[in-house]
Amino acid sequence: MTERRDILVTNALPYANGPIHLGHLVGYIQADIWVRFQRMRGHNVFFVCADDAHGTAIMLRAEQLGVTPEEQIARIKEDHERDFADFRVNFDNFHTTHSPENKELAEYIYKQLDANGHIKKRTITQAYDPEKQLFLSDRYIRGTCPRCKAADQYGDNCEVCGATYTPDQLIDPKSVLSGATPVSRESEHLFLALGEFTDFLREWTRAGHLQPEVANKLQEWLDAGLQEWDISRDAPYFGFEIPGHPGKYFYVWLDAPIGYIASFKHYCDNQGIDWQEWWKPGSTTELHHFIGKDIINFHALFWPCMLTSAGFRTPTKIAVNGFLTVNGAKMSKSRGTFIDARTYLNHLDPEYLRYYYAAKLSSSVDDLDLNLDDFVARVNSDLVGKVINIASRTAKFIEKTGGKLSNEIEDPALWERFTGASERIADHYDKRDFSRAMRDVMELADLANEYVSRREPWKMIKDEGQQEATNQVCSLALNMFRAIVTYLSPVLPALAEKSREFLNADLPWQGATKYLGDHEIGKFKPLMVRIEKEKVEAVVEASKESLQAAPAKPTGPLADEPIAEEIEYADFAKVDLRVARIEKAEHVEGADKLLRLTLDLGGEKRNVFAGIKSAYDPAKLEGKLTVMVANLKPRKMKFGMSEGMVLAAGPGGKDIYVLEPDEGAQPGMRVM
Ligand code: MSP
Ligand code: ZN
Repeated sequence: MTERRDILVTNALPYANGPIHLGHLVGYIQADIWVRFQRMRGHNVFFVCADDAHGTAIMLRAEQLGVTPEEQIARIKEDHERDFADFRVNFDNFHTTHSPENKELAEYIYKQLDANGHIKKRTITQAYDPEKQLFLSDRYIRGTCPRCKAADQYGDNCEVCGATYTPDQLIDPKSVLSGATPVSRESEHLFLALGEFTDFLREWTRAGHLQPEVANKLQEWLDAGLQEWDISRDAPYFGFEIPGHPGKYFYVWLDAPIGYIASFKHYCDNQGIDWQEWWKPGSTTELHHFIGKDIINFHALFWPCMLTSAGFRTPTKIAVNGFLTVNGAKMSKSRGTFIDARTYLNHLDPEYLRYYYAAKLSSSVDDLDLNLDDFVARVNSDLVGKVINIASRTAKFIEKTGGKLSNEIEDPALWERFTGASERIADHYDKRDFSRAMRDVMELADLANEYVSRREPWKMIKDEGQQEATNQVCSLALNMFRAIVTYLSPVLPALAEKSREFLNADLPWQGATKYLGDHEIGKFKPLMVRIEKEKVEAVVEASKESLQAAPAKPTGPLADEPIAEEIEYADFAKVDLRVARIEKAEHVEGADKLLRLTLDLGGEKRNVFAGIKSAYDPAKLEGKLTVMVANLKPRKMKFGMSEGMVLAAGPGGKDIYVLEPDEGAQPGMRVM
């Protein structure tokens, strides 16, 4: 065994403005497999991640949903954590960049950069939305392409003719947020002078931290010369204010990677581990960042500069994965191939996808394709047809011959193929050549199945004189099965767990080379079922964006409040809407927005605080029927518990309209 390594692994931090999808999962599953493998080899591994919580998009999303950004990111964090747990991506810590640790570290690193003279100030001119009172990045501006005159194109490039330009070159530009015509406005920004790090980067990018194709790409960028990097944004912005610059905030990408340190620090502080040991220059620990190919510049250029200038160690390896395509094309909402983690989980076992990704992943930056027909065929043939088959066709004969595995190795040469594969497969895993590892394992599975087919234990068992021999053949088969499941267990932790129970034995990596003999096994239960094609079809169906759901260009009030993201019917069905009678409505002492309502649900009474004071005289509400969310978790508010919510329409102020059912409705009736 080689020396015990101390390894810190991170995954790119998902944005807190939307759900995890199968594209994201490529990198998360890849890192999780690698971490599980390293742990099986006895290394000391920490695995951290966090939500990337800052930026304009998240601020606007929260505003659109009528919640604070803090509430919004808390909700998303719960969803993300559940998705990762259910895909068995096992972080030691999942933190958020909107944390005290991250604020402190971001300020510290910024101050170091500034003290070292790398921060420059410059006034720039930007598009500004005079109505929303917000500076607009390119993606919030649309207009007519100056080259081909195609209407409704983004602020930086035309999807029709491929032209690239700056937003001020657009014809008739409009703010996506308000429809207003953007104006030019000046503002002072802070920049990180990346050019000052060119020599450092030339060396660092060639020092074995990167895949060769990534290093080559960076060389091109370095040859072209590095621009200064704009690290500040003007208020309003959801992020951390820059020390000494009121009204200016760190650009989300400045504090995002610092979130790696912050998440690790948060974990270590709870565990009593010295996090600084891992982050100081010359640390003997390893630092591995797993990221997608679209964010290379942030990790392989900007990040090492920030770290080195601020007196931290730089990464050991940056592992870059390619992008996921589905059925050979970019994921698409209309084709139903833009698949959220949760939609997949509603129908299919996560281990199918973990295996399929492993079978396709290499250490290169190449894109990988999830071909849905191939997915079904491959998983069924490899996992169920080959691997599980070895156990399902031999386990019963062990039961019939005493329930114990034999010490006698029936075919030592064959067994040696299995023990001999251990280090080779380990090497593939270590190099992130998972597809090679999977290929080697499936070759072993073929060998095992050929052996069983050749010996035909189902015939041997019928011969009274061959009971011992039958037991020996099946013992070897199950030992081969055990080795295979061990080699697969970083990819398929649940299968490994079930196999452990069945074999009545642990599955450590070195165990795969030790013959399990004179050993009682448990009862065989089906370890994995075939994928049904219909379930995959159901996933695609559930992922299709209904075409009538959101009109492309809403007019009237819809324009101010775009239709929210599509949800599953099952999500909607969780909301229990009931007819309620407003029995009492009263002012609340000290509250300027709330009325206290006593609602009658046809037997049950509820106390609800509703933010409708600006539009209603309480007396006018009493006796009225309305609709309420009856199963909303009670919320403790400043003035007491609120046990539900009444439905009302309108933007607020005097414009609020409490919903009222048609005549005949009775309190307590279900609303669908
Ligand atoms: N928040 C940034 C990362 C900050 S790291 C300090 C971000 N977030 S993301 O949610 O857009 O992406 C998270 C990860 O998923 C990134 O590594 C990204 O490259 C990866 N992928 C997003 N879409 C993907 C595919 N379609 N295919 C493969 N990886 C994909 O970027
Ligand atoms: Zn064009």
